[in-house]
Amino acid sequence: MSAAAPFDPRAAAGSQPLRCTVNGAAVERAVEPRLLLSDFLRHDLGLTGTHVGCEHGVCGACTVLVDGEAVRSCLLLAVQADGLAIETVESLAPGSAELHPLQEAFRAHHALQCGFCTPGILMTMVAFLAEHSAPTEAEVRLALAGNLCRCTGYQNIVDAVLAAARSRRER
Ligand code: FES
Ligand code: FES
Repeated sequence: MSAAAPFDPRAAAGSQPLRCTVNGAAVERAVEPRLLLSDFLRHDLGLTGTHVGCEHGVCGACTVLVDGEAVRSCLLLAVQADGLAIETVESLAPGSAELHPLQEAFRAHHALQCGFCTPGILMTMVAFLAEHSAPTEAEVRLALAGNLCRCTGYQNIVDAVLAAARSRRER
């Protein structure tokens, strides 16, 4: 992510100030009030890991964490994120050579095909696993109900989430 541009409200007539943190970095911008958070992340910040599918809250592809809660970023205006902490899929892997344990489990269990749904599912499951250290398969399936995947049939996603929960308990 590029460094935050100096904030000059006079240079942004019709815009509103937005100050938040994105993946731990302070962000300060002037944005149009109608700008969606998903478009702000993708177009203003270049964080294209957040995918946009339906743009009306159905598919879950755009899910990010807002103050630790899984939220559909196409249903939030960017200005509504003022003062909040946003985390996108780019925040998960600790480095280019290392995956987040949940990403590792997805890789090991072949839990993605085209990958379009994957960022949203990962962010949804990160929030879910933070509150459910030993989920049942039924709980995982219920938690996944708001994330549509047209490729996988879900079984491998469920297996990956259960495996990630198991290995986290064993660590
Ligand atoms: S793009 Fe946001 S829920 Fe589908
Ligand atoms: S892997 Fe293709 S939509 Fe889920």
